[in-house]
Amino acid sequence: MPTADSSFDQLSIPPGVPALLRDLVHEHIGIFFEPDRFDALIDKLRDRVVARGMSSFLDYYYLLKYEDDAAEEWLHVMDAFSVQETYFWREAVQIRALVDHVVPAWFRAHPDRPLQIWSAACATGEEPYSLAIALQEAGWGSHPIRIEASDASTAALERARAAVYRERSFRTLPAELREKYFDATGEGSRLRIEGLLPVTFRRANLVVREDVVGLASAPVIFCRNVFIYFSVDSIRRAVAHFARAMPAGGHLFVGASETLLKLTTAFELAEINDAYVYVRNSQPA
Ligand SMILES: C[S@@+](CC[C@H](N)C(=O)[O-])C[C@H]1O[C@@H](n2cnc3c(N)ncnc32)[C@H](O)[C@@H]1O
Repeated sequence: MPTADSSFDQLSIPPGVPALLRDLVHEHIGIFFEPDRFDALIDKLRDRVVARGMSSFLDYYYLLKYEDDAAEEWLHVMDAFSVQETYFWREAVQIRALVDHVVPAWFRAHPDRPLQIWSAACATGEEPYSLAIALQEAGWGSHPIRIEASDASTAALERARAAVYRERSFRTLPAELREKYFDATGEGSRLRIEGLLPVTFRRANLVVREDVVGLASAPVIFCRNVFIYFSVDSIRRAVAHFARAMPAGGHLFVGASETLLKLTTAFELAEINDAYVYVRNSQPA
């Protein structure tokens, strides 16, 4: 019986297969690897090749491309490529812009209409829970606001639903909010979700239109720090899915290092109290 290490050593990577896998991963999940990062791509898939009892990455490529159970395997692939670097109160100026400007403007304009907020690529949940805490703190906790959160990684979503966090997640959350909303447990700090606006989680792949279409009708979307892993083409695909469903005037927040300028004509860049946000215009998607 080979050990895990020796099976790793024996895996064959025929020439051309890294590029085939790169293209398949790009098409399915949007993430793109330049040739100088093919080693990283192969490393991320190694455990799966072994787990499927295969000795060649070419066999694994055929499995992902043609086999009946490929959809199930893609869930594992997504977990393998998921970078869940996130923390509470990340890029807090955007959270302030939501709470102090976007939400009040919504309820002034539509006093009786519920507001839906979508945290796309929520990873382990720190982003949508930060929104819920900020809204609670600002007095919006009893308003009809629904926060939907999604990610393509089922492993990330499982941790988000558990809502138990380690120190790394608290690097910028003010201490008094940690004190107020979290209980220390043996496994980490557990968020007290009772009394907060509800946050619901579901799996959605941003480059798959059917996954996105129901969620993207939200007038507020937070889609932060995922486009940094996408190709320009994948960003265009995801943003086109958003634009088709989002109402005119809707707000799309992306990460501080991400830009949609030159990638879409469906959004205008606006500044709200030091925060940048893309506003859906009325042009067709
Ligand atoms: C760095 S985290 C961002 C978390 C949070 N939005 C933030 O800004 O802190 C990136 C997340 O994007 C998710 N992701 C990557 N590709 C995706 C895709 N095609 N569809 C949905 N989520 C994806 C990963 O699983 C990961 O949880």
